[in-house]
Amino acid sequence: MKLIVGNFKMNLSYYEIEKYIDFFKEKDYSNVFFAPSSIYLQKFVDAGLYAVAQDVSAYEVGAYTGDVAAFQLKNLGVNYSIVGHSERRKYYHDDELVNKKIIRLLEQEMKPILCIGENKEERDNKKYLEVIEKEIKDAFNNIQKEYLKDIIIAYEPIWSIGTGVIPTNEEIEEVIGYIKKYVKEKYEFDIKVLYGGSVNNKCIETLEKIENVDGYLVGGCSLKYEEFENLINNIH
Ligand code: 13P
Repeated sequence: MKLIVGNFKMNLSYYEIEKYIDFFKEKDYSNVFFAPSSIYLQKFVDAGLYAVAQDVSAYEVGAYTGDVAAFQLKNLGVNYSIVGHSERRKYYHDDELVNKKIIRLLEQEMKPILCIGENKEERDNKKYLEVIEKEIKDAFNNIQKEYLKDIIIAYEPIWSIGTGVIPTNEEIEEVIGYIKKYVKEKYEFDIKVLYGGSVNNKCIETLEKIENVDGYLVGGCSLKYEEFENLINNIH
């Protein structure tokens, strides 16, 4: 079964979250995960839903105002965290922190969902495979092979995030195939790769024809619970 992760980003009020949880809590979607703002993670866990952090501190513990540590997430019952989302790379210089963040998560036996993907210019200049390879290499740096197995990759081309512009199936298949091959050859394990970028109910039927995708990281379409449930039911 494919993994489906809803990334709410910095959206939804407390009351909207309560309604959202009410809608999903009695349903039995074992492959659906929710990534709300960190202040709401506990509510998802308490409702028996799978919660994913949107980010984690690069540091273990201590004087890092505003950060949330991996051990604190783990204590809440959160076992997954997104790392290196392109919005964090863009606004918070996360490129340099991704490797440390992954290490913090693995120390807690948590699973990182590592986001990688090229921007429009890199795509147009046919540099996208280089970009992807570098992002993986930097993220996996100095981590022993046995621990890397817990990492999931989300391929999110930046030019597709929030734009409604979706790559062709061939374009997605090429990159996912490349990631899987590269990781297998260099790090010797089979990595799961999700696709993210404007996934919605209009394009899902087409995306579902892609052979090598292991799931989806969904932004906008996960914000309305009914729309998200429709999407879930369209994924096999
Ligand atoms: P959209 O689905 O809104 O394009 O966002 C994708 C994303 O960034 C998920 O992490």
